[in-house]
Amino acid sequence: MRVLVAGREGQVARALAACLTAAGHQVTALEPPGLDLTRRDSVQAAVVAAAPALVVNAAAYTAVDRAEDEPELARAVNATGAGWLAEAAAAVGAPLVHFSTDYVFDGRKGAPYVEDDPVNPLGVYGATKAEGEALVLAAQPRSVVLRTAWVCSADGANFLKTMLRLAKEREELRVVADQLGAPTFAADLAEAVVAMTPRLMAATAGEEVFGLFHLTGAPHASWHDFAAAILEGAALRGHPRPRLVPIGTAEYPTRARRPADGRLDCGRIARLHGIKAPDWRASLARCLDRLVGPAGEAKTQ
Ligand SMILES: NC(=O)c1ccc[n+]([C@@H]2O[C@H](COP(=O)([O-])OP(=O)(O)OC[C@H]3O[C@@H](n4cnc5c(N)ncnc54)[C@H](OP(=O)(O)O)[C@@H]3O)[C@@H](O)[C@H]2O)c1
Repeated sequence: MRVLVAGREGQVARALAACLTAAGHQVTALEPPGLDLTRRDSVQAAVVAAAPALVVNAAAYTAVDRAEDEPELARAVNATGAGWLAEAAAAVGAPLVHFSTDYVFDGRKGAPYVEDDPVNPLGVYGATKAEGEALVLAAQPRSVVLRTAWVCSADGANFLKTMLRLAKEREELRVVADQLGAPTFAADLAEAVVAMTPRLMAATAGEEVFGLFHLTGAPHASWHDFAAAILEGAALRGHPRPRLVPIGTAEYPTRARRPADGRLDCGRIARLHGIKAPDWRASLARCLDRLVGPAGEAKTQ
C-alpha cells in the first residue's frame, strides 16, 4: 500500500518510514520543498503526486520555546497546514494519522487526561497543536489524531540524547522532578500506526476507530525519573555517570510554560485498537544498545 509521510528527517517520520517499509508498504516521505505545510499548493500537489492510500502527518513546528516568538509560523505548520493536509487526504480518499501532544492540556487535572477532557494549552505550541487537531478532524473525518509526549529516538535532538551528551561533559546534572508525563519512543509510535492501519483502511467515517487517541510509553514518570533510567542504562554500557540532582520547575525557567502533569490515559487506544502503551524502559534499553553499545556482562558487574 502507498503511504505518504509528511516530515522526512523528523524523529517520528524516520521511524515511520522504517517501520512502514518493513511492513511491506511503499513510503513517500517528504518535507520542504517536496511538501511544505505552509503552502496549500505544495500540500495538494504532493498528495496528488503520491496518490497515497494512507497519509501520516509527522511534520510539525516542534520548537516549544521558539514558538512563543514565532506564533504565525507555528500556527501555519501545526494548524492551518495540518488542516490542508487533512483536506488533501480526504480529496484522494485516504485516511490520515496525525500527531498531537499533551501540551494541549494545562496539566492541572491531577490525574491522567482522557481524550474528552477539555484542552487549555499554556503556550503557543500547544495552542497551535490544539487548533490543528480540530482542523484535521473537521477536514477528514477518517482521521486518527494521536496525542503523544516526550518523544525520543536514536535520531534527532531529544532529551535522551541531551542527557547522554551532558553525562560526558558534566559531573552533576540537575533535572526537573516535578513535571510528570511519559517518555515515548518514536519506533513504538510507528509500530502503533502500522498496527492500526488495516482497521483504518476498512473503516468508514463515524466509526470509533477514528478520532482522538492518547498513546505514550508506560509507566508515567518525571523528567528526573527518565534521566535516572537513562544514566543508569548508559552506565551499564560503559558511559560516564554524573550525579543526578532533582530540581523544581522554578529552578529551570523556560520561555514557554509546560504542563506540570501531562500524563495521558491510554485506555481508549487499547480498547478500540488493541494497542497497549509500550513499556518505555524496554525501548530505552534498545535505544541505548544502539547509541552507547550493548550492556556487556563485564560492565554490569
Ligand atoms: N518531540 C516531542 O517530544 C513531541 C511530543 C509530543 C508530540 N509530538 C508530536 O509528534 C510529531 C512528530 O514530532 P517529532 O518529534 O518527530 O518532530 P521533529 O523531529 O521536530 O520533526 C518534525 C519534522 O517536521 C518538519 N517540518 C517543519 N516545518 C515543516 C513544514 N512547513 N512543512 C513540512 N514539514 C515541516 C521538520 O523539518 P525541518 O527539520 O526541516 O524543519 C521535521 O522533519 C509532531 O506532530 C509533534 O508535535 C512531539
